[in-house]
Amino acid sequence: MSHHIPTAHTVRELREALEPSRLAARSIALVPTMGALHEGHLSLIRQARERCDVVVVSIFVNPSQFDRSADLERYPRQEAQDAELAAQAGADLVFVPSVEEIYPAGFATQVQVLGITDRLEGASRGPEHFRGVATVVAKLLNIVQPDSAFFGQKDAQQVLVIRRLVADLNLPVRVEVGATVREPDGLALSSRNAQLSPEQRERALALHAGLKAAADLVASGERAASALLDAAQSAMVLFDVEPEYLSLVDPDTLEDLTQLDGPGLLAVAAYVGSVRLIDNVILDPSSIVVDPTLPSPIRKVSACSV
Ligand code: PAJ
Repeated sequence: MSHHIPTAHTVRELREALEPSRLAARSIALVPTMGALHEGHLSLIRQARERCDVVVVSIFVNPSQFDRSADLERYPRQEAQDAELAAQAGADLVFVPSVEEIYPAGFATQVQVLGITDRLEGASRGPEHFRGVATVVAKLLNIVQPDSAFFGQKDAQQVLVIRRLVADLNLPVRVEVGATVREPDGLALSSRNAQLSPEQRERALALHAGLKAAADLVASGERAASALLDAAQSAMVLFDVEPEYLSLVDPDTLEDLTQLDGPGLLAVAAYVGSVRLIDNVILDPSSIVVDPTLPSPIRKVSACSV
């Protein structure tokens, strides 16, 4: 079945399309994406659909967050198919701006979150990456002015950066986090998975296998970071994959942990061929699942429901 979904290409069109909802005090959700939509994105759209009255999906391959031009150039683009998928998952409106619409001539402002961006992805990809993410997300939040914005735990550090940005700039939006969606064999869904050859697709399981090896060890009582990291590393090498980084860190500060006394974030990045993949898991020795989606205490009248 084909769904017709309005598409806004400019900020003006977007604001006009949302005007009636804004006047009627309907709650608005934003799901920011770079397109090439898969089940990970669609699960966020469905969660937004359940909780808010109006669901906006933005599709913008943000040049400023790519540290490798080859990665930007071969990033998959499929706008018509994405609009259809977004509509099927419950989106009401897609926002597909051009690069010139987001970064017009004379654009000169950058949003930079300090500290946590020096580590993990920031250390590997350089400061431009999260500066690009924080800048475009700040802009998208200001353009759409949603009540809630939805992000995936797959990009755990991105979630922290956006939470920091929203808190520090007093942006009136609730940040919601959706669990990582995986293939049946454990591979985290990613737009970049499509670039893997069949042989690389098998080796890509290294990331999940590494995380799982460490999680199994935690379940059997191990608490030393070095032992957990060794187990993860050994499991990855069996797939002929070397991690770019493999770190057990505090889930809030991203500081290295030596011992798992509370929840820890085990995060990994690795190249499989020329495709760079990331994944993570929260390791919790008390096995009380940390719920990053806990509601904030203050609610607006037209807020999205929890
Ligand atoms: P993109 O990689 O397209 O991802 C859009 C959203 O989908 C992000 O919040 C990401 O964490 C989430 N996501 C991706 N794979 C997922 C999976 N397997 N399970 C659950 N959620 C998943 O992240 C970005 O775009 C950009 O940095 C963006 C926030 C749009 C800013 O440009």
